[in-house]
Formats: sequence, C-alpha cells, structure tokens
Amino acid sequence: MHLNLKTAGVAAAMLLFGVTLAVAAQAYDPMRAVQGQPAATPESGPAVAPNPDFENLPDTAGVEETYYMCSGCHSTAIIKQQSISDARWDYLWDWMIEEQGMAKPDEETKQAILAYLKEHFSSER
Ligand code: HEC
Repeated sequence: MHLNLKTAGVAAAMLLFGVTLAVAAQAYDPMRAVQGQPAATPESGPAVAPNPDFENLPDTAGVEETYYMCSGCHSTAIIKQQSISDARWDYLWDWMIEEQGMAKPDEETKQAILAYLKEHFSSER
C-alpha cells in the first residue's frame, strides 16, 4: 500500500475516534443501579421499612408509643419532616408538655419515644 501523509492522517484520526468511543463506553457502568448516584455504602445500612399502621413511620422499636403519643394533636408529617438536633428534640418534648398540654407519660415511655425520634429524625445521625 502506498502510504502518503494524507492517508496516515486519516488513519490517525480514525484511531483517535476509536479510543474516544472506548473511553466513553467505559464511563457507563451497567452494574450501577442509578447513573450519577453513588452505590449504597455499607454504612448507610438497609432502609427501614415504613409501618402502614402508624402513618408510615419507620418501623423500629418505639414506633407504636411515638404514634399514639404524638398523633393526637397533629399529623405525624410534622415529625417526619424534621431533621433537628437531639437537644432540640429534648426541648420540643418539654415544650409540647408545658405549652401544648401534651400528657406526660411514664419515664420508660418518654425514653422510648425520644430515642425513636433521635434515631430517625435527628440531624446528628
Ligand atoms: C397536646 C397536643 C400535642 C401533642 C400530644 C403533640 N404535639 Fe407536637 N405540636 C402541637 C402543637 C399545637 C404544635 C404547634 C403547631 C404550630 O406550629 O402551630 C406542635 C408542633 C410540633 C412540632 C413542630 C415544632 C416546630 O419547631 O415548629 C413538632 C416537631 C412536634 N410538634 C412533634 C411532636 C411529637 C414528637 C409529639 C409526641 C412526643 C407531639 N408533637 C405531640 C401539639 C401537640
């Protein structure tokens, strides 16, 4: 084959094009569930299932106590939308009793509910 400067240039361009395609193909990872989002890390743990009996609050220990204590005056949506500090939850607890007239439960129930609120709706974890 008679190789001149022009055909060499075309060959180089085609090679470059092929490499570009290969690189582009690599960026797409078919094993990743949602493109552009990092895969779930072990730290994030399995998602907690919502409990349909209690307005879909996360189904872990304390869900029942929290639901019955907190859904009397307002929807639990006001709880679910929170991402506040643990200290703010402690403050809101007293505020709900002293200013809103929430019934004061026994210490065990209080601790179960506060632990539940801090586990799911805290800015600290
Ligand atoms: C006796 C009635 C009553 C009960 C029971 C009650 N709340 Fe409330 N709660 C209120 C009222 C009233 C408001 C204020 C609504 C407003 O913003 O006008 C409120 C507001 C809130 C807010 C929003 C506070 C903010 O920063 O604006 C949160 C969060 C909350 N309640 C959580 C709870 C939790 C958790 C429980 C159960 C432990 C609970 N409430 C039980 C009456 C109650």
